[in-house]
Amino acid sequence: MSKPLRLAIAGLGTVGVGVIKIIQQHADMIESRAGRPVTITAINARTRDKDRGVDVNGYQWMDGAAEFANMDDVDVVVELVGGSDGLALDLAKKALGNGKHFVTANKALMAHHGFELAALAEKNGVSLSYEAAVAGGIPIIKAMREGFAGNDIQAVYGILNGTCNYILSEMRETGRDFDDVLKEAQELGYAEADPSFDIDGVDAGHKLCLLTALAFGTKPEFTSLEMTGIRHINATDISFASELGYRIKLLGIARRHGGSIMQVLEPCLVPKNSTLGTVEGVYNAVHIEGDHVMTGHLVGRGAGEGPTASAVMADIIDIARGFNVPAFGVPASKLTDAKWVDVGETVNCYYIRLNVLDEPGVLAEVSAILRDNNVSIEAFLQRGRDPGQPVPLVMTTHETKHKDMTAACAAMEKIKSVLEKPCLIPIENIE
Ligand code: HSE
Repeated sequence: MSKPLRLAIAGLGTVGVGVIKIIQQHADMIESRAGRPVTITAINARTRDKDRGVDVNGYQWMDGAAEFANMDDVDVVVELVGGSDGLALDLAKKALGNGKHFVTANKALMAHHGFELAALAEKNGVSLSYEAAVAGGIPIIKAMREGFAGNDIQAVYGILNGTCNYILSEMRETGRDFDDVLKEAQELGYAEADPSFDIDGVDAGHKLCLLTALAFGTKPEFTSLEMTGIRHINATDISFASELGYRIKLLGIARRHGGSIMQVLEPCLVPKNSTLGTVEGVYNAVHIEGDHVMTGHLVGRGAGEGPTASAVMADIIDIARGFNVPAFGVPASKLTDAKWVDVGETVNCYYIRLNVLDEPGVLAEVSAILRDNNVSIEAFLQRGRDPGQPVPLVMTTHETKHKDMTAACAAMEKIKSVLEKPCLIPIENIE
C-alpha cells in the first residue's frame, strides 16, 4: 500500500468536524482518487471533552497545535482556527518552516501574511493551500490559478460574503429588520464570530485581496483596500433599488485600469436580471473576465460545514496526489507590488438617497450643488408628501467622477433640510 498522507487538524469547529466526517465517510474513494490513503494523526481544539457528533477517539489529542509542526508522523497541518495573527500565524510559520504542507480556510491570515507564507512554503518545497478561504464551496482558487491560467485577467468581481447577501435578500423579500436577519444568519452558522467582519465588509475584503493577487500576480494587500459594509443600507434603499430595476449586492471588485488596479469592496446596485442580481441568499458568485475565456461565472455556497470542508479536502487530495503549485499562481519572488488607481478619478453612475424635510426649495438647493460638481441626474424619485416632515429623496446619476460625487455629497449634507449623511451607492451595470 502507498504511504498514507498524515494530517494534523487544528480547530474542531464546524469546518474541522466537516473535514473529519468526509475523511471517515469517503476513505476508500479518497484513497482511489489520491492514490494513497489520507489519515488523521492528531487533533487539537480549545475544548477537549465535547460531543462534536463525530468519533475522534482514534486520533492523538495534542494540548497545543504548535506541537504539530514537530511531529514526524504528520505531513500536513490543517489550520481551521482562524484569526490573522496569533496561533494561526505561529502555526503556519512553524509548519511550513519544518517542511509540513499547510492547508487553511483562513482568509484573514492569507490576506495579511499570504506573501511571506507563500515564500516560506516555496523555500521549503511544500504547499500552502487555501481553497476554503474564498467563497467556500466554489473552487475559485483553482479556477483562477489553474483553470484560467492561459488568460490575461482583466477583472474579477463578485458576491463574497454569504451573510451580507442573505441579509440583503431576506430584507428585500420579507421586509424584516437588519438585526433580526443577521441573528438568523448567525444561528444558521454562516456568520463570522465577530459579526462586524461580515457586515462591515472585512471578511469579503480579505477574500477580495486574495482574488486580486491571483488575477494580477500582485502581493495580497489588505491594508490599502477601500471597504464599505452594509450597515447604512436600509429598507427604503432596498425598495427604491427594486423600483428602479436593481438589486443591492455587496461586491468585491478588482479591475485593471491601464497599468493600475482598482480594488474596492462596497455595496452596489446591479441590474436585477443580471447574473449577480439573481444570486440570492447565502450564495456567493464570482465573475472572471479573461482575454480568451471572456466571462466566466461561478456560483455556489460560500459558507457552512459541507461546502467549506469540501474545499479543504480538495487541497488535501491535491497534496496527496503530489500536486504543488505556487500559492498565488506565480512564484512568490515574481509577485509584484500593486499600483492602485486613484479612486477619485474613477467614473461610475450612482444612486443617492437623501433624507430631507419636505419643504419648498430643497430640491433647488440639491440640484445647484449637483450642477456645481458636474453631476448629471438620470432619474429622480420622491414618494409621499408630508409637509415639514422627513421624506426620502432618491436620484440616480449619469457617469460621474468619484471625487465629484463625494464632494457633492459632502456639500448636500450641509443643507439645513438634509437631515443625515446622504446614502451613496455606485451602480454597476454588469451582465
Ligand atoms: N462569514 C462568511 C460569509 C463565511 O458569511 O460568507 C466564511 O467566510
